Amino acid sequence: MAQPSPPIERLVIFGATGDLAGRMLLPALYFLDLDGLLPPGLKIIGSARAPMGRKAYVERVRKTLADRTEGPDEAAWARFSARLDYCPADVAQPSTLAVLAETLGDAPTVYYLALSPSLYGVACAALDAAGMACRECRIVLEKPIGHDLESSRAINAKVARAFEERRVFRVDHYLGKETVQNLIALRFANTLFEPLWNNLAIDHVQITIAETDGVGERWGYYDEYGALRDMVQNHMLQLLCLVAMEPPADSGADSIRDEKVKVLKSLRRFGANGDHSLSVRGQYRAGVVGNQAVKGYAEETGRQSSTETFVALRADIDNWRWAGVPFYLRTGKRMPERRTQIVIQFKCLPHSIFGPKAREDLIANRLVIDLQPDEDISLLLMNRRPGLAGTRLQALPLSLSLAGGARRRIAYERLLLDVLADHPALFVRHDEVELAWAWIDAVAASWTDHDPAPKSYAAGGWGPVGALALLERSGRAWLDE
Ligand code: BG6
Repeated sequence: MAQPSPPIERLVIFGATGDLAGRMLLPALYFLDLDGLLPPGLKIIGSARAPMGRKAYVERVRKTLADRTEGPDEAAWARFSARLDYCPADVAQPSTLAVLAETLGDAPTVYYLALSPSLYGVACAALDAAGMACRECRIVLEKPIGHDLESSRAINAKVARAFEERRVFRVDHYLGKETVQNLIALRFANTLFEPLWNNLAIDHVQITIAETDGVGERWGYYDEYGALRDMVQNHMLQLLCLVAMEPPADSGADSIRDEKVKVLKSLRRFGANGDHSLSVRGQYRAGVVGNQAVKGYAEETGRQSSTETFVALRADIDNWRWAGVPFYLRTGKRMPERRTQIVIQFKCLPHSIFGPKAREDLIANRLVIDLQPDEDISLLLMNRRPGLAGTRLQALPLSLSLAGGARRRIAYERLLLDVLADHPALFVRHDEVELAWAWIDAVAASWTDHDPAPKSYAAGGWGPVGALALLERSGRAWLDE
């Protein structure tokens, strides 16, 4: 039997002065500490190239938390700040790691690389060269791992030279969201859905991640990746896998990840049957979002670019369960509203026993899983409208609102706790990353060959018209109300 891992005593955040650390990691750690969930002896060491003393760093963290937490609570801050330290280093240069290595000694450590993915390989090599990649140490990497299959393989190989796979935690923060984890409970803690969860009962599935924000200050990163690589390769394919996977044998990390891998292997490659009309990409131009006039993408970046800020595509899963059930994925910036939603659209009635009026009222059942901005799961069912007039029907949602009054947790809280506890189920294995890239590469190649430029759409709209046509061609429509 595997020995339990010794408790982690140090968490080092490389990129400690960056956006991810400030917006997500430090607030998440503070909230965990506030709730008494961090191991008592855990020290949190920020590291970045900027020279800075402990005092200045602690003050900086305090300011960050003040913006993010409307606090912080004084007693909790006293406890949290006592955990903090700072050690300047350039993670790409092993020679600059000496002081940090000495501070850490042989304490089991988690290294969080809140850095550009292009640095993951050199950072792991440098940690190894500085003798810091101990057997009990773990490394945390953020998406995107690479830019395509080849570069992701190269990164995974470099990381593997310093850290064996069970020590590598690849974050997809969508897996830390409460409703995403609830998908597993919904599917596998109820008997109700499983007999219907297939191509006999389901017509199609829609997954939407719509954001009202533009790319803004992040365009340096974004322009290189675009919506396909920034959102579809990771968040959207993870959601698709959780909807489509077979029941795993248990909730162990590899049981779940093995099932996700099978889905990724069953995804039909773009271009495989010569159909090049399965995707639409767009780029926002100036428009209005939430009553505010906003700039177009090209004005934000200050130059013309062929990077897509919107993608809609049809994915087909070639296996017994899903043959003939399209999964429509759609994501974009500068959409009319913020919405992350999965719609399981069931088939229409095979035959209606109702009169012509009631027949017009009929809507096929659907299960709608809302992740953002509100968390809700609702099942749309047909009912009889009360009254003495002839039979009329109405669709009513059976809703499980998940808000429950509790503070909504940052997805990173769950993920950080799981790294500390050595629970890898919510992290992405190297083969998942690579299979996802292989599929994405084929989509990107189909664009290069058949659709060289994104179509423009007005900010505040639901993407280029082609996105509607993608579903209309088969008599379907996006659920936009
Ligand atoms: C990130 C992407 O992974 O997810 C961003 O890089 C995107 O472009 C963000 O805005 C969306 O996350 P959330 O949790 O706000 O839906």
